[in-house]
Amino acid sequence: MGFGFDMRLIVGLVVFSALTSSLINGEVYNVGDSDGWTSVSNVDYKHWADTKEFHVGDTIIFRYNKEFHNVIQVSYENYKTCNATNPYATYATGNDSITIKYPGHFFYICSFPQHCQSGQTVDIRVPHSLAPESAPQPTLPPTSAPPIPPVPGNGTGSSTLTTNCCFYAVVLAFLASILAY
Ligand SMILES: *[C@@H]1O[C@H](CO)[C@@H](O)[C@H](O)[C@H]1NC(C)=O
Ligand SMILES: *[C@@H]1O[C@H](CO)[C@@H](O)[C@H](O)[C@H]1NC(C)=O
Ligand SMILES: *[C@@H]1O[C@H](CO)[C@@H](O)[C@H](O)[C@H]1NC(C)=O
Repeated sequence: MGFGFDMRLIVGLVVFSALTSSLINGEVYNVGDSDGWTSVSNVDYKHWADTKEFHVGDTIIFRYNKEFHNVIQVSYENYKTCNATNPYATYATGNDSITIKYPGHFFYICSFPQHCQSGQTVDIRVPHSLAPESAPQPTLPPTSAPPIPPVPGNGTGSSTLTTNCCFYAVVLAFLASILAY
């Protein structure tokens, strides 16, 4: 009996601390996963971003050869038209780590000739989260990005959501069963 209790307590604590640390420290996403940030592998960055659920506190990392690529944050219009003039931010180290500080859309392109046109662009959509954020949120520089509804119940994005929901449910059930002892 005591053994069962200890195991459940330990497993519960491990799961709980993993969960809270991921909520506090945020996730880390490598843009393009193992392909990185490139114009030559036909990486579908839209699909890559659509299958992620970004939150304030998460970190996105752009990895690339800095002789051939860069990361330019632009407005929605300039993202659509591959126009890198008047950027909001410019990154060029080849290993750029960007922490998401507030919700909204973050549009990035590569400004090397034809790279944006050939698909080296990404829209990081960070929904307003339900997590407590007491401080008033600064808003993104104005863009006229149309509101994008949450990913509908179709495709891999929604399966991630489902996994998360059930994972949290299992964790809560775990904790409840420990407390019930
Ligand atoms: C590029 O964007 C800048 C400012 O955002 C704008 O002034 C310029 O006209 C744009 N260029 C083109 C070719 O659209
Ligand atoms: C990229 O930067 C991160 C810190 O932001 C560092 O931990 C990592 O080792 C760097 N990777 C490379 C390949 O330089
Ligand atoms: C899911 O989306 C794809 C295109 O993204 C579409 O072809 C398909 O019909 C959709 N399926 C459902 C059930 O909505």
